[in-house]
Amino acid sequence: MSATSTSFAPSASPAPAFAALQRLRSPFFLVTGGKGGVGKTTVAIHLALELARSGARPLLVDLDLGLANVDVLLGLSPKRTLADALAGLCRFEDCVVETAHGVDVLPASSGVRELAQLDAAARARLADGLAELSSAYDYVIGDSAAGIGADVLAFAAHADGVLVVTTPDAAALADAYGLIKALDELARERGGDVPTPELFVNLSDDGEQADRIGRKLRGVCERFLSRSPRLAGWLPRSSWVRSSLPGGRPFVHGVRRTLESHCLRALGERVQRLFPRSEARLAGLKG
Ligand SMILES: Nc1ncnc2c1ncn2[C@@H]1O[C@H](COP(=O)(O)OP(=O)(O)OP(=O)(O)O)[C@@H](O)[C@H]1O
Ligand SMILES: [Mg+2]
Repeated sequence: MSATSTSFAPSASPAPAFAALQRLRSPFFLVTGGKGGVGKTTVAIHLALELARSGARPLLVDLDLGLANVDVLLGLSPKRTLADALAGLCRFEDCVVETAHGVDVLPASSGVRELAQLDAAARARLADGLAELSSAYDYVIGDSAAGIGADVLAFAAHADGVLVVTTPDAAALADAYGLIKALDELARERGGDVPTPELFVNLSDDGEQADRIGRKLRGVCERFLSRSPRLAGWLPRSSWVRSSLPGGRPFVHGVRRTLESHCLRALGERVQRLFPRSEARLAGLKG
């Protein structure tokens, strides 16, 4: 995927304080999506689990900083979170929680207002902390907040890969397009290179519907933005997807072969194809 901009700063916050994200020693994927409740956290968790299942070491970072819930969905009770590290009460590595599934989690806090919109100093500390942690991992997967707030756009602009999760719902698709458009505008404003996001259709009836949606959105993006976002995958609506996460026994870790696990496996394989692990591990990959 493309390199990212070093000079970008979202207009709401002029300091390019996330520049240290470019020093991450492993590829950084942001799972985002525009609309709330479309399955960003679910997909981010399962992607991390899938990478771990195939032998990689992923770090899953809760970047939904104001309303974090990765820990809740994984049944974790972290003693310290990103909020403590940002407040200088501990190191970032002290907040990392090991799970039984091979995924390490850097949790955030919910309801901490300062986290919902980071100031420049906090952004720089977070980026430095992630850069330091990343050397121990093959992949850093970020679970993003909904919307096109300054932090979401800044994380996306500095990521190696951006996965935009949508559902077939028209409002979710409009928000997915809105997010891609906002990123495209940012790239043009700053003269920087921002990765073209890939699309993930959650709650899809089947692969054909996901393909249709992918083609439609790509067509609109090619026409109005000169961007050509590809379809990275899809997932059906499934009570199993929903019920398997709390309690920390996600189904993807099991041996059952279902459509759901096939879809998630395909996503994990795609990410590993884009960034083969030997390359991912190379120190200095990102300069
Ligand atoms: N494929 C699916 N099948 C069934 N339920 C799903 C699926 N994907 C997500 N869900 C359920 O939808 C709800 C919202 O999912 P999730 O929290 O992952 O969305 P989100 O985009 O991260 O939301 P937010 O914007 O609040 O962060 C959850 O209850 C989750 O279990
Ligand atoms: Mg979420």
